[in-house]
Amino acid sequence: MSHKDTLLSRAGTSLCTLLITGMVMTGSAFALTNDDCLGCHGDTSMTAEKDGKTISLYVDEATFKETVHAENGCVSCHVEAEVAGDEHPFPMTPVDCSSCHEEIGAIYAKSAHGVAMAKGDALAPQCKDCHSKHDILKPTDPRATTYPLNIPYTCGRCHQEGSAMTATHELNKHNITQNYSMSVHGKGLFESGLIVTAVCSSCHTAHDVQKASVPTSSVNRDNIIHTCNKCHVGIVDKFKKSVHSPLVTKTDKKLPVCIDCHTDHSIGQVHEKDFRLIIAKQCGNCHEHHSETYLETYHGRASMLKGGERTAKCSDCHGSHNIMPAQDPTSTINTANIVKTCSVCHPQANLSFTTYLTHATHNDKENYPYLFYTFWAMTGLLVGTFSFFGLHTILWVPRSLIERLKAMTKGH
Ligand code: HEC
Ligand code: HEC
Ligand code: HEC
Ligand code: HEC
Ligand code: HEC
Ligand code: HEC
Ligand code: HEC
Ligand code: HEC
Ligand code: HEC
Ligand code: HEC
Ligand code: HEC
Repeated sequence: MSHKDTLLSRAGTSLCTLLITGMVMTGSAFALTNDDCLGCHGDTSMTAEKDGKTISLYVDEATFKETVHAENGCVSCHVEAEVAGDEHPFPMTPVDCSSCHEEIGAIYAKSAHGVAMAKGDALAPQCKDCHSKHDILKPTDPRATTYPLNIPYTCGRCHQEGSAMTATHELNKHNITQNYSMSVHGKGLFESGLIVTAVCSSCHTAHDVQKASVPTSSVNRDNIIHTCNKCHVGIVDKFKKSVHSPLVTKTDKKLPVCIDCHTDHSIGQVHEKDFRLIIAKQCGNCHEHHSETYLETYHGRASMLKGGERTAKCSDCHGSHNIMPAQDPTSTINTANIVKTCSVCHPQANLSFTTYLTHATHNDKENYPYLFYTFWAMTGLLVGTFSFFGLHTILWVPRSLIERLKAMTKGH
């Protein structure tokens, strides 16, 4: 006997009685209850052939009863199943979650995922790929696929290097889940169990996921500050008052945003070696000249040696989110504050100590004329002295040989 036969015979008894009771109680012709469906679909062995694959048709009643849709009838999602009699159509059109979750449905439809889905990309996530179907729980439930601790796995199923998706799609970022797990946010989540830390959807949103190049994307350069501001409020407040904020500096040059200095998926703890050693390079991407001259100073050279993370980095002198030009009275390198800035590491520092030129270079006539001319004067003197004595020595050699020969012939 096929499944269908078993089911149909069972339905013959249970479904009909239920249907009649249902109709009597509600006065509606088609008010199928979940029990009507579960009479057949509560059978664990129930399967069907669909698109060349065998799918299970079993729905676990106990699990379903704990979900957010427990009060929804099966037919609220499977509208086509609401038919009188035993046989509903097969196959059915896929469930449309947006019929109730209209707002989210509209946002999703315009997202990178929704657009890919509409184009027929079989690997694009639909609602059920992130939320499941018969075990949908609130995102605050620790068992939900959308609970913060589980989100990196939910997204990682596809965005993990080596997945069918990454193997067939050309995306701008690689090793995302691996990098994320090693980042301060990933460690915060997995090691410290911090559910208030950043997970994929904190930065990308859950339903309005877009490429970074899309102007409205939560990870577009123009919006990234706003995205980090969901949690790092105090830092953004400071940053907005610094020379790097477009609110303060009107310029055509590229102003930095959080990810220029911190990266995106590999954000590290700022007091760790890795971050300290890379910061001069990050600033140097835009301040090439100052970065080069820094590398010629004591601090710059020492930073390339073992233990180099301890010497002064750009941010130890200039600050990080509060950077201002030297002439600004709030600048950490303004004469009013510079002693304090150096004395963090040089407790004996005084104003004369701070005259040590941080970006001094002998090639910079414009900014450091004193150093420039001193360098060339000293170099001139050095070259002159060596040339004079060199010449003197060269001329002296034949002379000394002649003198020696003379002395030998005289028989000494
Ligand atoms: C009499 C038994 C029976 C009852 C009652 C029943 N179904 Fe089914 N259902 C089946 C069978 C059998 C299949 C597989 C169809 C096939 O193999 O032709 C199926 C398939 C399905 C599918 C899969 C459709 C697809 O395209 O993948 C859904 C969804 C479904 N049923 C929902 C329901 C809902 C909701 C109810 C209650 C209103 C219900 N069924 C009541 C027997 C039943
Ligand atoms: C929140 C909406 C929702 C509710 C409520 C719901 N389902 Fe489903 N169901 C789905 C989705 C989504 C699928 C996947 C197929 C699709 O996209 O249409 C599915 C698939 C199925 C299938 C096909 C087999 C499978 O697992 O893919 C059966 C059978 C089924 N549902 C039965 C039921 C029964 C019985 C109930 C009531 C106890 C029920 N469903 C309630 C959303 C729902
Ligand atoms: C027939 C209408 C209907 C359909 C279709 C429907 N839902 Fe729901 N959904 C609801 C209702 C009602 C709630 C409960 C709302 C509440 O508790 O605030 C809910 C709650 C939810 C929640 C939890 C919301 C929260 O605030 O925590 C999620 C997640 C969810 N649905 C996802 C889905 C998904 C995914 C689908 C498609 C597979 C779907 N829904 C289909 C009506 C529906
Ligand atoms: C790429 C994965 C993904 C897809 C696709 C997705 N969601 Fe979500 N959804 C989430 C995550 C993650 C959350 C948890 C909230 C958050 O992190 O912002 C969530 C939360 C929700 C909530 C409850 C909270 C809220 O925002 O009101 C509902 C309802 C919901 N989703 C419905 C849907 C529906 C309907 C669809 C399809 C149109 C859908 N989701 C598609 C990942 C997804
Ligand atoms: C079922 C697989 C799947 C899941 C789950 C999934 N994605 Fe995607 N995602 C894709 C596919 C496929 C694309 C490519 C769309 C395209 O071709 O542009 C994509 C694109 C993206 C993009 C835009 C990049 C681009 O080049 O288009 C971002 C950002 C993204 N996903 C983030 C997420 C986040 C965050 C989650 C979890 C909340 C998630 N994804 C879950 C399959 C998935
Ligand atoms: C702290 C914030 C943050 C977290 C957490 C985060 N991302 Fe990202 N992600 C970004 C930023 C910012 C970019 C864009 C960087 C750029 O402009 O190059 C990005 C880029 C991407 C892209 C490529 C987008 C494109 O335009 O091609 C994908 C895909 C992606 N992230 C997926 C994920 C997934 C999956 C997770 C979780 C494992 C995750 N992200 C966690 C901030 C984050
Ligand atoms: C110009 C480079 C730069 C930019 C832009 C930047 N940061 Fe930072 N950030 C740093 C440096 C350098 C440190 C380390 C400061 C220190 O050593 O105390 C830091 C430290 C931090 C810390 C740790 C707290 C602390 O001060 O020790 C957080 C959190 C942080 N940044 C977040 C952000 C956010 C959010 C943004 C965007 C609003 C941002 N940063 C923009 C360079 C930058
Ligand atoms: C959902 C909240 C949330 C979002 C959004 C978020 N962060 Fe964080 N971030 C945290 C938490 C919580 C920690 C602390 C983790 C820990 O210490 O384990 C943290 C830690 C950090 C640190 C390390 C601080 C230190 O003391 O060394 C940096 C840097 C940082 N975040 C930068 C960013 C940037 C840049 C963005 C935006 C692209 C961002 N965060 C978005 C919550 C968030
Ligand atoms: C994405 C490019 C970018 C990055 C990265 C960046 N800056 Fe800037 N910075 C600018 C721009 C643009 C200005 C505005 C003044 C200008 O036009 O040069 C500026 C101004 C300054 C000023 C004020 C001096 C002046 O000429 O007005 C200081 C000091 C400074 N940055 C230090 C730093 C330090 C230290 C870092 C690393 C922690 C850093 N910057 C990272 C682009 C950047
Ligand atoms: C030991 C402290 C110290 C370190 C480390 C340092 N600076 Fe400076 N920086 C200064 C001082 C003091 C001045 C102002 C006097 C001068 O130009 O030498 C200055 C000037 C500047 C200016 C011009 C500011 C203005 O208002 O005109 C920029 C831009 C700058 N530094 C960027 C950097 C970058 C980028 C790095 C790292 C690669 C760096 N600095 C490392 C102390 C430091
Ligand atoms: C983050 C810590 C830090 C800050 C801030 C700092 N330095 Fe240094 N500095 C060092 C370290 C470490 C050395 C190497 C000391 C050693 O070799 O004993 C050093 C060495 C020096 C030296 C050469 C060796 C010596 O002690 O005479 C001078 C000069 C100097 N710093 C000047 C400054 C000036 C001026 C400032 C402020 C504008 C400053 N430093 C800020 C860490 C710092």
